[in-house]
Amino acid sequence: MTENHDIEATLKYHNATKHSYASVRANPHFLDFANQPLPFKIYPTLEPSRLPDEMRQTGVAALSAIAQSVPAETDASPDLKAIAQLLYLSAGITRQRKYSGGEIYFRAAACTGALYEVELYLVCGELSDLPAGVYHFAPAEFGLRKLRAGDYRSLLVEATSGEPAIAHAPLTIVCTCTYWRNAWKYQDRTYRHFGWDNGTLLANLLAVATALGLPAKVVCGFVDDRVNSLLDVDSRREVAFSLVALGHGSAISSQPPAEISPLGLETVPLSRHEVDYPLMREMHAASSLHSTEEVAAWRGRTPLMSFPPPAGPVSQLQPLSDDEMPRDAVEQVILRRGSSRKFARTPITLPQLSTILDRGTRGVPADFLDPLGTQLNHLYLIVHAVEGLEPGAYFFDRDRKLLEYLKRGDSRDVAGYLGLEQQLPADAAVDIFFLADLRPILQRFGNRGYRAVQLEAGILGGKCYLAAYAQRLGATGLTFYDDDVTRFFSPHAEGKSAIFLVALGNSVKRQS
Ligand SMILES: Cc1cc2nc3c(=O)[nH]c(=O)nc-3n(C[C@H](O)[C@H](O)[C@H](O)COP(=O)(O)O)c2cc1C
Repeated sequence: MTENHDIEATLKYHNATKHSYASVRANPHFLDFANQPLPFKIYPTLEPSRLPDEMRQTGVAALSAIAQSVPAETDASPDLKAIAQLLYLSAGITRQRKYSGGEIYFRAAACTGALYEVELYLVCGELSDLPAGVYHFAPAEFGLRKLRAGDYRSLLVEATSGEPAIAHAPLTIVCTCTYWRNAWKYQDRTYRHFGWDNGTLLANLLAVATALGLPAKVVCGFVDDRVNSLLDVDSRREVAFSLVALGHGSAISSQPPAEISPLGLETVPLSRHEVDYPLMREMHAASSLHSTEEVAAWRGRTPLMSFPPPAGPVSQLQPLSDDEMPRDAVEQVILRRGSSRKFARTPITLPQLSTILDRGTRGVPADFLDPLGTQLNHLYLIVHAVEGLEPGAYFFDRDRKLLEYLKRGDSRDVAGYLGLEQQLPADAAVDIFFLADLRPILQRFGNRGYRAVQLEAGILGGKCYLAAYAQRLGATGLTFYDDDVTRFFSPHAEGKSAIFLVALGNSVKRQS
C-alpha cells in the first residue's frame, strides 16, 4: 500500500480540524497583526515585465461561461493579452481598501480572510508573443517574472504521467499554496482552505478560458516533487496544489530533463517569524504522489454516487429560460463580485436559485471527474426566503433536477449557528452546504481525494458566486460547525462530511 492509500492520515486531519462550539471556545489563538504575512510573493532580484492591461470584451455571458467548457481537442493557443486576462480575472487586484492597519488588496476571486495564499506560475512553450519559459505572476505589479527560459512542458507531461490535456497544452498554469500566509489566521485548518481558495480562483479561470475559446482542464494528479522542483519552491512553505492545462496544440515531444537545477532565487520573508502547524504539512505529505506509475493509477474513473428516488415532497428546478437569462459578460461580473458583508432578509425567486444550481453544477473539466459531469460533493440547502419554495431544508438532486424537501420550518437561527454563529448565514435567502461521502472518494483516490473534494467544492462555490452576481444577487463563502451540519441534514446526510458553505441573497450595500 502506498502512503497515499493509507487514508487514516486524512481521517486524522479531517477530524482534528473540525470546528465545533467547544473547539472554537477552547482555541486561544489571536491574530498577531505585528507578524501578519505579506500578501505577495516577491522576488527582489527579478524585474517583472508588465502584462498588457487592456481587457478584451469577450461579451460571453457569465451564466454561459460558468456552465460550459470548450471541447478538449479544439486547437487554440493563448496570446499575451489572453494570458493577462486569465490572470487578472482570477488572481489580479480588482479593488483596494484602506483600514487602520494598512491596505487590503482585494483580488478577483474570493479567498478566506483575504489572505491570498494561492500563487500562479506559467509553464509555456513558445507562444506568439511570449517566449517559452517558467514565469511567476506578480499581481502587485501586474507582471510576469521569468524564472526559467526555455520549454519545460515535457517535465509536466512526465509528472502527470502523460495526462493528454497537459501533453497538448501550449500553456499550463500551476497553482501553489503558501501555508503560513493562511495559517497565520486559520492554523491547521488551512489545508482545507487551500482547496477552497484555489477552487474559487479556478471557477473564475475556467469561466474566462471558456469565454476566450480555450479548452481548459484542472489536473490534480502529478508527482509533487517534480512540479515543486520545476518552480523551485521551498516545499516546507509552498506547494503545488493544482495544474490547469490551457489551449490545445500538437503533442509535446521533447524528453524531460533528468535533473532540474535549483534557482536559488531570493524571496522576501512573509513575516518576522512563521509558526509551524505540522498537521497540515502531514496532510500534504500523506496525499503526495511519488512516481509516474502512482499518478497513472490515480487518474481515472470517479466513483459513481447515485441516489434513491426522493422519499419526500419535491420541487422541480425552474431555471430562467435563455431569453430571460441576464447576459452580463463574465469579465463584467467578475469585476462586480465581492463577498456580501450583510444580507437583507428579502426573498430571491425560485428561478434565480434554480439558475444558480443548474448553471453552477454542469460539470468541471478535471482529471478526477471522469466522465465529465460527475461530481464528488452533494448540495444541501437551508431555504429562508425563496419565492416559490417553503422555508426548510432540502437536498439538491442534480440528476433529476429537483429539490427534495427534507425538513420544514424557519431555520434562520439554526443556519446562523451552523455557519459558525455568524449573522450572514442567518440573514441570507438561502445557504448551500456542500457535503461529501469521503469513504468511496478516499477508497478510490486515497488521501489525494481529499485535495480533490475540497478543490471541487471551492470551484462549485466560486461558480455559485458568479451565478449570483450575474443576477445582481450577493454571495459569500462561509465556514461551519462540521458535525452539526451533518446532524442537521441527517438522516439523509448520515455518514457524510461537511466540506464548504456558500450563502446567497440580496446584499445590503455598504454605507460609505
Ligand atoms: C472559502 C471561503 C470561506 C469564507 N468564510 C467566511 C466567513 O466564515 N465569514 C465571512 O465573513 N467571510 C467569509 N469569506 C469571505 C472572505 O472573507 C472574502 O472572500 C475575502 O475577504 C475577500 O473579499 P471579497 O470576496 O469581497 O473579494 C469566505 C470566503 C471564502 C472563499
